[in-house]
Amino acid sequence: MRINSNFLVIGSGVAGLTFALKAAEHGTVAVITKREIDESSTSYAQGGIATVFSTEDSFDTHTKDTLVAGAGICHEDIVRMVVEEGPKTINSLIEWGVNFTRNNDSDSYDLTREGGHSQRRILHADDVTGREIERALVEAVSKNKNITVYEYHIAIDLITESKITQKPMSKERCLGAYALDIKSEIVKTFTADVTLLATGGAGKVYLYTCNPDIATGDGVAIAYRAGATIANMEFMQFHPTTLYHPNAKSFLISEAVRGEGAILRRADGTAFMEKYHPLKDLAPRDIVARAIDNEMKIYGDDSAFLDITHKDPEYVRTRFPNIYKTCLEYGLDMTKEPLPVVPAAHYLCGGVLVNEHAETDIENLYAMGEVACTGLHGANRLASNSLLEAAVYAGRAYQHSISKINNSALSNITVPEWNLGKATNSDEMVVVSQNWDEIRRCMWNYVGIVRSNKRLERALHRINLIQKEITEYYWDFIVTSDLIELRNIVTVAELIVLCAKQRKESRGLNYNIDYPDKDDINWKKDTYIRKQF
Ligand code: FAD
Ligand code: SIN
Repeated sequence: MRINSNFLVIGSGVAGLTFALKAAEHGTVAVITKREIDESSTSYAQGGIATVFSTEDSFDTHTKDTLVAGAGICHEDIVRMVVEEGPKTINSLIEWGVNFTRNNDSDSYDLTREGGHSQRRILHADDVTGREIERALVEAVSKNKNITVYEYHIAIDLITESKITQKPMSKERCLGAYALDIKSEIVKTFTADVTLLATGGAGKVYLYTCNPDIATGDGVAIAYRAGATIANMEFMQFHPTTLYHPNAKSFLISEAVRGEGAILRRADGTAFMEKYHPLKDLAPRDIVARAIDNEMKIYGDDSAFLDITHKDPEYVRTRFPNIYKTCLEYGLDMTKEPLPVVPAAHYLCGGVLVNEHAETDIENLYAMGEVACTGLHGANRLASNSLLEAAVYAGRAYQHSISKINNSALSNITVPEWNLGKATNSDEMVVVSQNWDEIRRCMWNYVGIVRSNKRLERALHRINLIQKEITEYYWDFIVTSDLIELRNIVTVAELIVLCAKQRKESRGLNYNIDYPDKDDINWKKDTYIRKQF
């Protein structure tokens, strides 16, 4: 079955839906998304979205804070551009109906703070900012006749011109994507003038993550297989504070809790962040996560503790209603006792390399949001810059891509349907779950907060064995969404390890005990990786 549109958007978080709403003014838009429309990392974002909204703040300070967090390899021109386009972009979100929390005077917005920010500049909707943004965007999309949403459709691979024509091309061109309709088990052919990857992050590559199940790095793996350049994959950000509780599936305790005064302590009650950074509990995230990891290892504690008990309980309950309620469900009252917390995989700073218009190096293929590597985050993302980046780049991709519609190679090429080959039904799902578990455990143990050359070697060896097994399995059986995701997480795991092996220094989120120092002479640059055909 073939579905043609001007724009094909893969993913329905803030990046995909913001783009779809804009693009729908110029043409038809198909949005494919692998679960329900609102199942995305966006929906779980807590702290907020950073931008310069206060007269006490400035573009210069937001730029500077981003550069400092990024540990020397942010692209300054990109940082400045995103920061400067922030207020206008956030006003568009407000026009689409996003209700950010206001101050009591109701004229101004309440601005919160998080790690690495020298100013209060984070707009939020209580402690469920992402849920509110996603709600408003989904509502706007549902009213738009030019947008068709395909839920439970998982993109498998891009359709590229050289694969169809079997001729080498000086520049590869994207014609759409094959996607599995999970419910009917049919692979559909989505063709489009312009294809957008907005598939989010890859936290599920690690055993412990605060990401939802959709975050399997599909877009990175898909783009890599098609020949796009991938960058900076070694920079997986670990959020310092996810709830440590046997029944909590990595529930995040927002950095805004520290922004409003919470203190990190050891099990014996000692506050420790002063030892690590002058900003103490509000130091950049890489430093806080490593400090917690270090304290846990030195003192043999199972977790650190986040203490906000010194604040007025009523304030805590109203400022963090969702966190308060969720912790209470686990038997923890944050107004009375410190919360046990541990770091977990949170955000992929690297991804598909794009230019300032969100263009990849494959023609007619754009990437935006967490799947992309724009140069904004460098070696460590500043808190709440991610929703901002996704929304800014959606606007830029839209402006750049409208000239490409009704102008693609599609009219001259016959796109074949997905080839099922001699695949038969799989009854060996145990292989999938075994490999899935092994990769995530291996990444957590060998490619986590602290790395070493030996651990990276071991990880690569394991990953390559699993990869071989999956490749055989993948082509022998009918594709399922579990198999598609497994193939993607193993590819992303490999890319993370290969980039971490390239970088022979410690910078930002990549800490390697064999190269404990930053090496500005040789490594003040990005790492790149591209599939060799
Ligand atoms: P997502 O919102 O993750 O959307 C990806 C979409 O792609 C989903 O719809 C998914 O189903 C779909 N998809 C994936 N693969 C496929 C496929 N193969 N086929 C079809 N569809 C596919 N950032 C901030 O700036 N501020 C915060 O306060 C903040 N808090 C966070 C809290 C948590 C718990 C988490 C997990 C993240 C947080 N982040 C925060 C990060 C931020 O939420 C994400 O980086 C951002 O929402 C990513 O948006 P996106 O549109 O790129 O991807
Ligand atoms: C948080 O609320 O701590 C997450 C913020 C972010 O990841 O930007």
